[in-house]
Amino acid sequence: MKILVINGPNLNMLGIREPDIYGAKTYKDLVDMINDHASKLNITVETYQSNHEGDLVDKIQEAYFKGIDGIVINPGAYTHTSVAILDALKAVKIKYVEVHISDVSKRDDFRQISYIRENACKTIMGKGFDGYILAIDFLKDLINNEN
Ligand code: DQA
Repeated sequence: MKILVINGPNLNMLGIREPDIYGAKTYKDLVDMINDHASKLNITVETYQSNHEGDLVDKIQEAYFKGIDGIVINPGAYTHTSVAILDALKAVKIKYVEVHISDVSKRDDFRQISYIRENACKTIMGKGFDGYILAIDFLKDLINNEN
């Protein structure tokens, strides 16, 4: 099983960026945590981060050609603005979970819109880095139950 974990803009700044909201741990800590979990589950997980909308679209399209089974995606601020990312996720028809480190439902009005939510298998928010682990576990079970 192959799962792709995509992080959008400013998530490379974890640890530096608003630690009161996103915590003190870094993006590298997040990647290490995801890789440790993947090896315990015996699945292949690729991690990817970009600050550029088009790069995120390219990565989602690439997932189709690589035969990725599931996507965990935190599009950062593009969650609230990007039709292009929604369209890419719909185009590849790969099951995905939307993750947010913070609880966006309790934040600014402009964060209440998520373009990708309507098509997501699940949304996990406000669970910090653990949200990514919960998303991987959820996708693994979902994909296993289908096969
Ligand atoms: C975020 C929430 C978004 O509103 C914000 O723009 C981010 C991170 C989160 O993980 O909580 O960049 O997606």
